[in-house]
Amino acid sequence: MSPVLFVNGLFLLCWIINYSEAIKPEIHAFHFGRMLKSGQRVSVMCAVTVGQPPFTFTWFKDGTVVSESETVTIRNIDEFNSNLAIIKLGPEHNGNYTCRVTNNGGSSEQSDVLSMMVVFPDPTWR
Ligand SMILES: *[C@@H]1O[C@H](CO)[C@@H](O)[C@H](O)[C@H]1NC(C)=O
Repeated sequence: MSPVLFVNGLFLLCWIINYSEAIKPEIHAFHFGRMLKSGQRVSVMCAVTVGQPPFTFTWFKDGTVVSESETVTIRNIDEFNSNLAIIKLGPEHNGNYTCRVTNNGGSSEQSDVLSMMVVFPDPTWR
């Protein structure tokens, strides 16, 4: 084998070893905001910043998979972004929401608590 071929082969081998190991996803933190009022629209994005597709997105509310309804929708915008929207916010939507993203390298999660504002604040509330 010629030295050139050998070196090229070595480079190829290193490249394969480096890139065959999938990097697990990293997710941009999302926030619901603080002054949330009854009846308003709320939308957050679960955006992958690091890692290779394909990804599987799963949204949880207090540890349970979010099921879509008349007031809650989940849209996978593209292979890196998933959107959770609440069309008409009500007290039943309060909770701890988590987005889990999984690929061949593993999975990551980001969470934020949705806490709707009380219209006539009770000083003893919270
Ligand atoms: C929300 O849920 C996540 C995932 O279960 C957990 O790690 C986090 O501590 C929770 N946050 C709050 C404020 O309860």
